[in-house]
Amino acid sequence: MTVWGAAAVDEVVSGGAGVVHVGTRDVVTPLARERARELGVEIVVGTPAPAPAVVSLPPVPAPTRSLPDPAAVSARLGNAPRRVGPPSGALYRRGAPVARSSARVPGHAERVGRVVVVGAGNVGMIAAMRLADADVFDEVVLVDIDEGRAAGIALDLTHTAALSGFTTRIRGVGTIEEAGRADYVVLTAGKPRTPGMSRSDLIATNAAIVGDVASRLARTSPDAVIVVVTNPLDEMTQHAWTSSGFPSQRVVGMAGVLDTARFQALASLAGAGPADGVAAFALGSHGEEMVIPLSQATAGGRPILERVGPADLDAAVDRARGSGAEVVGLLRSGSAFMAPGTSAARMVLAMVADRGEVMPAAVLADGSYGIRDVYVGLPARLGRRGVQGIVELDLRPAELAALREAADRIRERLGALAPT
Ligand code: LAC
Repeated sequence: MTVWGAAAVDEVVSGGAGVVHVGTRDVVTPLARERARELGVEIVVGTPAPAPAVVSLPPVPAPTRSLPDPAAVSARLGNAPRRVGPPSGALYRRGAPVARSSARVPGHAERVGRVVVVGAGNVGMIAAMRLADADVFDEVVLVDIDEGRAAGIALDLTHTAALSGFTTRIRGVGTIEEAGRADYVVLTAGKPRTPGMSRSDLIATNAAIVGDVASRLARTSPDAVIVVVTNPLDEMTQHAWTSSGFPSQRVVGMAGVLDTARFQALASLAGAGPADGVAAFALGSHGEEMVIPLSQATAGGRPILERVGPADLDAAVDRARGSGAEVVGLLRSGSAFMAPGTSAARMVLAMVADRGEVMPAAVLADGSYGIRDVYVGLPARLGRRGVQGIVELDLRPAELAALREAADRIRERLGALAPT
């Protein structure tokens, strides 16, 4: 049995065939059918399928032309209904990217698409590990100016394939150009915080790195969706958007998922029940102006304030806001990476699954919440090609005011970044 994806159709057609012959027991993905329609070729069942043409490797890795079949990915990650509004805590579990090979859907073992993780620091390493473990992509490529580190992590991770049950290939390279064309990019490149530094202290240094990376990505991967992780997050996401020239739907910042996960963990410690039963949205900025509207938070499907007192919840919000610094202080060198890397991977997996999952993310405000033209953390519906739309929650006046305040502060900091 052969699984026919869109890439296989491309290969046969580029070899000159006007018809794609597939075997009676072969599986043809919806994407492959769509691609055949686009190319005006017929898929004929019943004639022995020829082996897909062997494509010799060009100097730069060939572009991946299709993404995993969303139905297959969705099935692998658990069938979730389309959701609008705050996610239940289970959303975070459903996408837990530690799929085992036994969870593969028969007939949907196709692996296509490439994620490029820029920056093989600790966050990039954990993101790559989670993405590989999910066993959804054809290839995960780590890029770092320290090519040896990228290649070393890639090889080390490759050695876990049998342990974790994945078939995703992993490479480590020294340049974005060598990585080849990406469907998704996780952009972690930049300097991390050191104790005593705020995220904003990094703005000028990291802007130069992010601007360079984003403009190179625009050339090598013009159709990619970029998930920005570099700090200061909101400002760097907007900077990546302007530097790439991409539509804003394809440039999104990670931190709301991370800040929400921290709140879920801390609320759980405060007595809200299991972390994955806590649902909340961390909005605003990834920093001082983080807003976690308690009016929207639930635990076990009930308003969270029924389970945990307001003082304890406020303390959990404050601690979530300061969690990055708390970890920096404990590590003494470098910043958090487990939760940040996992959060970035989780967003990419949600996009590939294409279920329209709503996640808090740094997105370009479109007038919702009375905010426009600035990147800020808002609930965003994510699909295969990035942001499908912003979801308006019914916030209390004080929560809404705090969100607008966050947008104003981000705008001010961006003003300081603008070339004079
Ligand atoms: C943190 C860094 C990644 O919050 O901003 O840990």
